[in-house]
Amino acid sequence: MKTKARLFILFLSVSAIFVFWGQVSQYAPPEEQRSCACDQCPFENGTLAFQNLTRFSQPFLSRNSNLSEEDFNWWRVIQRGGGTISEYRRNMSRVFKLIPANPPLEEPIPGRCRTCAVVGNSRNLLNSHYGPFIDFQDYVIRINRGHSKGFEADVGKRTTHQVMYLESRSQLDDTTRPVLFTFKMRDLEWITSVLRPQPSRKKSLFNKDLVMIVNPAFMRNIHHMWLQKKGAYASTGFMSLVLALHICDEVHVFGFGADSDGNWSHYWDKKPNNKVKTGGHPGNVEYEMIMALARHQVLKFYTGW
Ligand SMILES: *[C@@H]1O[C@H](CO)[C@@H](O)[C@H](O)[C@H]1NC(C)=O
Ligand SMILES: *[C@@H]1O[C@H](CO)[C@@H](O)[C@H](O)[C@H]1NC(C)=O
Ligand SMILES: *[C@@H]1O[C@H](CO)[C@@H](O)[C@H](O)[C@H]1NC(C)=O
Ligand SMILES: *[C@@H]1O[C@H](CO)[C@@H](O)[C@H](O)[C@H]1NC(C)=O
Ligand SMILES: *[C@@H]1O[C@H](CO)[C@@H](O)[C@H](O)[C@H]1NC(C)=O
Repeated sequence: MKTKARLFILFLSVSAIFVFWGQVSQYAPPEEQRSCACDQCPFENGTLAFQNLTRFSQPFLSRNSNLSEEDFNWWRVIQRGGGTISEYRRNMSRVFKLIPANPPLEEPIPGRCRTCAVVGNSRNLLNSHYGPFIDFQDYVIRINRGHSKGFEADVGKRTTHQVMYLESRSQLDDTTRPVLFTFKMRDLEWITSVLRPQPSRKKSLFNKDLVMIVNPAFMRNIHHMWLQKKGAYASTGFMSLVLALHICDEVHVFGFGADSDGNWSHYWDKKPNNKVKTGGHPGNVEYEMIMALARHQVLKFYTGW
């Protein structure tokens, strides 16, 4: 009798251990480490799961960046600007006397999921009520003259990064990162003139300690690799989206494309405008690429109301 009882107890303990072990192994981490903690990470091992596009290591310039002559020559002619590479290097080093030497660029971390909202300026945002969802993301990136005031319910209130270039500049608050695109030598002088303290100026255009300058080599990479050299160069909107894929693991895209009537205009325009204005940019190629990225779940695309 006694032995039977003992055996029964032994049986129970062994089963308990097996059940417990089963639970433990169920919760063990997967063998393969993912590069981020989102449902999907855009660049696994540095490569996009679609079209073999690779992560560009220096999307922003730093004081020690050394632009190659090849990249400089591509950059110099896109807006038919002048200047030599030595002038470029000299003038860019002047800019870097005024701004931080190394812009922050966090690499993906297995345990984290950094989310971005890229907010374009399309009228399709009107009545979308996306505002709270946009503000919920870690970073909110606005483009050119994109702003919130008066449109908070549809476009959100927060702006962590504002992407702009000389001709599209706008006044930023002290906590927003200015992400600057340069297209010609004169843009370098613009940056230095804006950043130099001047008594006549009431408020500077933006906080110089937060400035980030997009690497011209990255702009060229986007044109060559992401758009297969279509058009002259990519639009600021498209480049902002690729940039977002480099600073976030999950990218939500709003306010790109036409509105539901097929009109292309800004959400703040009084009247819709049915002219598609893409300048030298390959508008359709860009749009199709964005759609393909959305189909392959590299980013999430929101069409508006
Ligand atoms: C990334 O690389 C690791 C190690 O080389 C490998 O185990 C994993 O399968 C790769 N992931 C993808 C999505 O290619
Ligand atoms: C991506 O690269 C791999 C290996 O280099 C290659 O086998 C594959 O065909 C490429 N895919 C595309 C879509 O280019
Ligand atoms: C930048 O690179 C070029 C060639 O790649 C080299 O000749 C030059 O010395 C470099 N300049 C600096 C400041 O590192
Ligand atoms: C470089 O900066 C200086 C000083 O701002 C300016 O005079 C010069 O024209 C700039 N060079 C070019 C090629 O724009
Ligand atoms: C906007 O689109 C509608 C429908 O296509 C059109 O009737 C209207 O004229 C457009 N508005 C403007 C200002 O072009």
